[in-house]
Amino acid sequence: MAPGPEQLDRLAACIVEARNVVVLTGAGVSAESGLATFRDPSEAGDALWSRYDPMELATIGAFERDPELVTRWYHWRFTKCADVDPNPGHDALARLERWLTESKSPEAFTLITQNIDGLHQRAGSVRVVELHGTIHTWRCTETGKETPLRDLSFGSFPVRSGDGGLMRPCVVWFGEALPEAALAIAGAALERCDLFMSIGTSATVQPAASFLRIAKHNGARTAEINRDSTPNTAEVDIALPGASGEILPLVLARAERLAGGDPIGDT
Ligand code: OAD
Repeated sequence: MAPGPEQLDRLAACIVEARNVVVLTGAGVSAESGLATFRDPSEAGDALWSRYDPMELATIGAFERDPELVTRWYHWRFTKCADVDPNPGHDALARLERWLTESKSPEAFTLITQNIDGLHQRAGSVRVVELHGTIHTWRCTETGKETPLRDLSFGSFPVRSGDGGLMRPCVVWFGEALPEAALAIAGAALERCDLFMSIGTSATVQPAASFLRIAKHNGARTAEINRDSTPNTAEVDIALPGASGEILPLVLARAERLAGGDPIGDT
């Protein structure tokens, strides 16, 4: 069921009133760009590689057992990311960041993403906290030295660094610790935010799954934009069911009109 104008207006009003907004995104925001989500791998549509279950390959155990397979799979995932474009949901979040940081304060907006695809940055988002790392940087498992993916050669698999170590993507695998710097920025943002929005995430993987509760505990209003209901849906002040690429531009347009003193109407 698509959200009605009243729900869109409520969230728009919250955005205008907020001093500090935190947005948490997951794979759902990139679904309309054509990237499969984690828990809907069948939507990938690619014959060979989409048959692999991300939950099995995104582990240190899989890499240690079969570095060639895991490296090939991540290379395929990178190629898919490079083949697609940001969608209107990514664009709306980039516009929201520009608007709030320019009109309120540089810290008025924080985007925390679990996505490793880089689509937020390509849409123009600047301060992106990549909680699960990025597929665009790889590191040597011997020396820890990081290399931009564009500087690596994928002529043979697994890929090795100049020092002879296996190269792996700088993404967080199951069982691994999250980047400390990203966690610290996210924690500080959750403390000061007065509006928290969870968008396109199943809210099942910790610690991100707890962010909404933490923000709520700290007194923030909470909202969710998601195609399906999640453990957060019953907890939030405003739940907008549907596609983020459709809903976010509508909410943003209403918020901009409201902030500009125009009455918000039925777009
Ligand atoms: P999931 O695949 O778990 O969830 C994607 C969510 O997006 C689901 O709740 C869908 O209903 C929703 N969704 C799908 N299309 C949408 C759309 N167009 N608009 C809005 N919502 C949509 O992905 P994540 O929650 O990101 O971690 O998964 C979290 C983490 O689990 C991932 O970062 C990854 C995975 O294991 C690691 O690899 C460490």
